[in-house]
Amino acid sequence: MAEPVQKRTVFRTRMAAIGGALFLAGGFLFLILLFFDLTASHENPYRALVTWVGVPFVITLGFVLFVISVWRQVRQARKEGRKVKFNLSIDPTDPAYMRNLWLFLGLCAGLLILVVYSGTKAYEATDSVEFCGETCHTVMEPQAVTYENSAHARVPCVDCHIGPGASFYVRSKVDGIRQLWNTALNTYSRPIETPVANLRPAQETCENCHWPRQFYGDKLVTRTYYRTDEDNSPWTINLLLKIGGGNPRTGRNEGIHWHMVTANDISYVATDHKRQNIVWVQVVTPEGDTTIYTRSGADMPDFDSNTTEVRNFDCMDCHNRPSHKFLAPATSLNLALAAERISDDIPYIRQVGLEVLNAEYDTRPQAQTMIADSLRTYYQEEYPEFYAAHEREIDEATLEILDIYNHNFFPEMNTDYRVRENNLSHFVNDGCFRCHSSAMQDADGNSMEYDCESCHLILAQGPSEHPDSLESNISGLTFRHPEDIGEMWRETLCTDCHTPEQGY
Ligand code: HEC
Ligand code: HEC
Ligand code: HEC
Ligand code: HEC
Ligand code: HEC
Ligand code: HEC
Repeated sequence: MAEPVQKRTVFRTRMAAIGGALFLAGGFLFLILLFFDLTASHENPYRALVTWVGVPFVITLGFVLFVISVWRQVRQARKEGRKVKFNLSIDPTDPAYMRNLWLFLGLCAGLLILVVYSGTKAYEATDSVEFCGETCHTVMEPQAVTYENSAHARVPCVDCHIGPGASFYVRSKVDGIRQLWNTALNTYSRPIETPVANLRPAQETCENCHWPRQFYGDKLVTRTYYRTDEDNSPWTINLLLKIGGGNPRTGRNEGIHWHMVTANDISYVATDHKRQNIVWVQVVTPEGDTTIYTRSGADMPDFDSNTTEVRNFDCMDCHNRPSHKFLAPATSLNLALAAERISDDIPYIRQVGLEVLNAEYDTRPQAQTMIADSLRTYYQEEYPEFYAAHEREIDEATLEILDIYNHNFFPEMNTDYRVRENNLSHFVNDGCFRCHSSAMQDADGNSMEYDCESCHLILAQGPSEHPDSLESNISGLTFRHPEDIGEMWRETLCTDCHTPEQGY
């Protein structure tokens, strides 16, 4: 005898109705979003996140619900010793079936209306400036503001942070979900952690635009400094930086960019997360000669441990702030004084400006009020006559100092020069001197120290802003430290005296 076949329609159960609606409407939603994604003028990570992660999740959920419901019906029927055959016909006589059909249709319509009216609107909104402004403004503000002021202000963030190719795209999308999650829950770290974990290697980002074998030659850098005395006395240094490079056709393989000649293989180990305390450096020349330098007195890393990272030296180890430079207050005040945006006639402005910028504030509005108030009070009390006669200059200086603050200090994210080391020098942070110091020695005890002249020549220096009144020599001068400190500058690191408390 043939088993009784029970004919039943797919939407007999509520679960199937919901699953089916999610699946169908989700599919439609995906097509609409895909269209937006393909036609949008530029990529938006959050929009992509919704299209490629959010909606597929809804579709899969719908599908799984639907399959579970079918499976449960089949199992139930088997238990009862029957066979089921599904069909799509409408069965108006079954009230349970009709209820679920309406549920299915209602849900589909509801979802679609939602998509058409609010969904597309919200979706487009994620592309807008307001979305970035309000949603992640505080979190990314330090990086966005410094980026706008950098040489790379027209290079899209993704060119450095993602670069071409699918694997990093996917990785960054996954990372994006984590970031959205942390932003939503307000659990992100302040400041944002740096160095960026898994930053794409420079070969695949920077080197798409800057050809590594390019020869850069020498570059003249002029710096004017102002002392912390009443007169804000100037001191100027003209440095000829030997950037060099590795293109033997246009120049010798030498200079600072010698490191990045791909044939020279340099790797190092740092004991701290921020890669400031380097203890082990290895150079392998194209001929295969290996030299290892170690920091005398330091504990050596455990190379067997998987927490020891042997890092290949690349562009980012010197250029770690190509687009997010947080200037030290002393540096930005020197720049503003040299450009005459702050008058150097104002007594002690270099010192007082430094103190108000360096003080601790909780929020930007608080900082702005307190900076303006402190400057006014200081000059009203200490230099009443000067204040009365030069109120306008002091107001201009105040505006400039507030501007410096707004571009370099982000109290809500605890981000400023104190947590964002710049490795491109050795003055504010140890930078080059992390390796180029007498403490780094090879097996024979020879140190890796270089004289000042191996990286730059001092063409002119002296207590003035005017080039013609400086001591100068085109083949290089011995460094004269602006303050008489004897030979100390040869013996200790610049950063031993020039500290963050001092504004450097
Ligand atoms: C020219 C390349 C470049 C561009 C363009 C760029 N960045 Fe960066 N960014 C970097 C480098 C290099 C680092 C530091 C990496 C390190 O130290 O590990 C960094 C670090 C960061 C960090 C980590 C915090 C920090 O200060 O180190 C964030 C967040 C960030 N960038 C966001 C952005 C955003 C948002 C944009 C676009 C508005 C952008 N970046 C554009 C190269 C770039
Ligand atoms: C999409 C192309 C592009 C990418 C990617 C890029 N740059 Fe640049 N970079 C430029 C251009 C263009 C300039 C010149 C800008 C100017 O002078 O106005 C420049 C200027 C520079 C300068 C000189 C100006 C300065 O800030 O001192 C340095 C150094 C530099 N880039 C380093 C890097 C590093 C390091 C990376 C990788 C993290 C990188 N660039 C990635 C296009 C790019
Ligand atoms: C050993 C450290 C170091 C490494 C590694 C390094 N650079 Fe530089 N680079 C410098 C210094 C120092 C300067 C000069 C800085 C200045 O202008 O104040 C410079 C200057 C530049 C400039 C600007 C040249 C100009 O004429 O203004 C570019 C572009 C540049 N580097 C790109 C790169 C790229 C791309 C890489 C990786 C392939 C790289 N650098 C690796 C130290 C380094
Ligand atoms: C990770 C360690 C490390 C850091 C950081 C570093 N260097 Fe070097 N540098 C080396 C090594 C290693 C050599 C080769 C030393 C040797 O064996 O002669 C070298 C060599 C040089 C040379 C000589 C190149 C030649 O023509 O022979 C110059 C110039 C130089 N570095 C400049 C710089 C500057 C400028 C910085 C900072 C912006 C810097 N270095 C940062 C490791 C480093
Ligand atoms: C390993 C290479 C290297 C060595 C050795 C070196 N410098 Fe420098 N120096 C640099 C670089 C790179 C900069 C950054 C230039 C810039 O900011 O554009 C710099 C910047 C400076 C500045 C300007 C500081 C600022 O940021 O305003 C002074 C002054 C200076 N060096 C003096 C010296 C003296 C004195 C010595 C010898 C004790 C010395 N340097 C040794 C690479 C070197
Ligand atoms: C023993 C401590 C000490 C060491 C080491 C030292 N400096 Fe200084 N430096 C000072 C003092 C003190 C001043 C005077 C500060 C002032 O007038 O406000 C000064 C001032 C300067 C100035 C004038 C700008 C300013 O902000 O006053 C420059 C430039 C400078 N030092 C460069 C260097 C460089 C480059 C090195 C490393 C090669 C170095 N110094 C090492 C103590 C030191």
